[in-house]
Amino acid sequence: MSEVHEALGLPVPIVPPPTVTRAMTATRRALGRTQDRMTVPFQVVFDRMFGLLDNKALFIAVELGVPDVLEAGPLPVGRLAEETGADEDALDRVLRYLASRGVFRLGPDGRYANNAVTDVLRRNHPWSWRAWVLLIGSPWNWDIWKNLEVRVRGEGSATEAAHGCDFFTYVNERDPAAGAAFNEAMASGSRVQALLFAEHYDFEGVRHVCDVGGGSGSVLARVLTAHPALRGTLLELPALAADAARVFSETGVAERAEFVAGDFFESVPAGCDLYLLFSVIHDWGDEECARILQTVARAMKPGSRLAVVEPHIERGAAGNFAKATDLLMLAFTDDGRERTLSEFAALWRRAGLTERRRIVLPSLFDVFELVVASNS
Ligand SMILES: C[S@@+](CC[C@H](N)C(=O)[O-])C[C@H]1O[C@@H](n2cnc3c(N)ncnc32)[C@H](O)[C@@H]1O
Repeated sequence: MSEVHEALGLPVPIVPPPTVTRAMTATRRALGRTQDRMTVPFQVVFDRMFGLLDNKALFIAVELGVPDVLEAGPLPVGRLAEETGADEDALDRVLRYLASRGVFRLGPDGRYANNAVTDVLRRNHPWSWRAWVLLIGSPWNWDIWKNLEVRVRGEGSATEAAHGCDFFTYVNERDPAAGAAFNEAMASGSRVQALLFAEHYDFEGVRHVCDVGGGSGSVLARVLTAHPALRGTLLELPALAADAARVFSETGVAERAEFVAGDFFESVPAGCDLYLLFSVIHDWGDEECARILQTVARAMKPGSRLAVVEPHIERGAAGNFAKATDLLMLAFTDDGRERTLSEFAALWRRAGLTERRRIVLPSLFDVFELVVASNS
């Protein structure tokens, strides 16, 4: 089993090409729509409305460490309550609901067990998604969602209404626990994308890579691990320095990786062969994106490339992941958004960049490879 299989949790030892993944996603959505058409409308409404129950129940189970306790094997709820310090009856009702939604297995003997879904929520799973559940279900995050209507009415930012400051000030300066949860979730998601990027992107001719807004360095560490001849620079806000030092040392790349504290609106290290903007552009409005891209373009030498890694919004009602993460941007940021391919193209033009090619990763995230227009 390859690392990509483990990371994606694929049941068979084949990584489907993006066209197949896209077709499978479309089929799944079509089946979901057929299921809706076979259901009376008010039940569809209830199913959507109860999304908050899924979120909260999942958060509680993961925060209590239920998937970790169940790693040793199935348990009756009484033992689970003892191990997690929870109220037995309440825990049973939460887990029973989750099992009815395909999260945890409830056996005929009344014992709960992990299934493939909850297995990836264990703390020690090598590709754990636990941090995402803790991020999206946390009370400070719910406070932001409670204020989404402020944003939709055009009365300001949801995060500002909830916490009195913008998202990055909140997570980086106001609430260290929220900051740790956010950075861990970003790192766990990006580690998977980085694994795919490191395998599918052509690093020919690249010796020095700069990850701009690279979080705690997990993407850069993965790229450097996969390509031992590369050196790397991580450009981030100063608050991320300690986390990055830990990631570089734990992954054994500290000698080839440096942390540069800075602001990507002002300047980034000059003269690298490859610049990365991994899940950064979607945090910002067009104006700010153009400034970030122009800052990177100024730092690029002839022959440098910039790889922007983001998913794109598909047209019409086609279901896609980016339409969900777009709502995260709506809640967390002032002007951040996911973009269609033509919106991305307009951004590149505005920043004086040319798209040389677009590579689609098996996760359906796009890698837009850009060069400075006057050098292309
Ligand atoms: C959505 S996170 C993506 C992190 C990372 N690229 C990844 O994929 O895991 C955006 C990152 O941009 C960083 N950031 C925000 N404003 C910044 C600025 N003005 N200069 C540099 N980095 C910034 C944040 O600290 C955060 O780590």
